[in-house]
Amino acid sequence: MDFDREYQRAQALVEQALQSAFAGELDSPHRELPEAMRYSLLAGGKRVRPVLTLKFCQALCGEMEPALDYACGIEMLHTYSLIHDDLPCMDDDDLRRGKPTCHVKYGEWLALLAGDALQTAAFERLAASERTTPAANGRACGILARAAGRNGMCAGQYLDILEQGRALDGERLTQIHLRKTSALLEAACLLGLTASPAEPSEGQWAAAERYARELGLAFQIRDDMLDVESTEEELGKPIGSDAQNGKTTFVTLYGLEQCRALVAEHTKQAKQSVEGAFDRPEFLCALADSLAKRKN
Ligand code: IPE
Ligand code: IPE
Ligand code: MG
Ligand code: MG
Ligand code: MG
Repeated sequence: MDFDREYQRAQALVEQALQSAFAGELDSPHRELPEAMRYSLLAGGKRVRPVLTLKFCQALCGEMEPALDYACGIEMLHTYSLIHDDLPCMDDDDLRRGKPTCHVKYGEWLALLAGDALQTAAFERLAASERTTPAANGRACGILARAAGRNGMCAGQYLDILEQGRALDGERLTQIHLRKTSALLEAACLLGLTASPAEPSEGQWAAAERYARELGLAFQIRDDMLDVESTEEELGKPIGSDAQNGKTTFVTLYGLEQCRALVAEHTKQAKQSVEGAFDRPEFLCALADSLAKRKN
């Protein structure tokens, strides 16, 4: 399997589908809102979550296409979370995906609304998909709402800000990471299974949950490491942001060397989760390995 080629193929499918999002609304006299949404959405992220959605669908039924609207939806929701995460009242960052953040470019109130509108557009996209059944679309909306909301990503973001400046232990920090990062990755994987016309078994469902949980922990620990050891050019976002905001991270708790070991351990667990459960786990395993080594 040529991992890079497969990743690029899935990424290109998402990229192409996202290009047309809100494009028809750009000639209205009030075009700034869709423009701000597209500014952040099309700024070129890694597209990890939509690729997971497409590839979990493919792991089950052999095709990526049934999951394409769900993939677009999860990326819209993720982009909303980034716009709000960067606001002055949150992490107060001025660079994202290599460009000025949404609020720097458009002002705070418009950025807030662009985030809000991307979030609702995500659910619109899931609810209206004609690639899947209405029943599947309803389940997909429930999965995304639970992952993004008060017990998922929003809870994680709440705790992340609440605990700024306070000393946390590894267990507490893990609980924050599971909500702020693993939750959306889990939704990405489960949306892929939901889109597949072939029904996942209970074991496959549980394997996807475990994979995402471990992948999310590895992903956020790596993110915390990059905040310390990368450069702004390579990362496309500011470095040193966590320290500036007084966040406890795995790096402040354990140092970079031990973080590398933790990322390796969570990656191993993620791979083990899917290895027995799917006929074609190769891509999902290679993705976990590649994210453990990622440079941005
Ligand atoms: C950034 O997510 C937010 C975290 C959960 C660490 P990504 O690293 O996936 O950001 P993009 O989508 O590639 O910009
Ligand atoms: C944010 O975590 C996770 C979200 C829910 C957006 P971070 O605050 O560490 O993400 P970056 O480093 O700004 O991308
Ligand atoms: Mg944050
Ligand atoms: Mg941040
Ligand atoms: Mg970070």
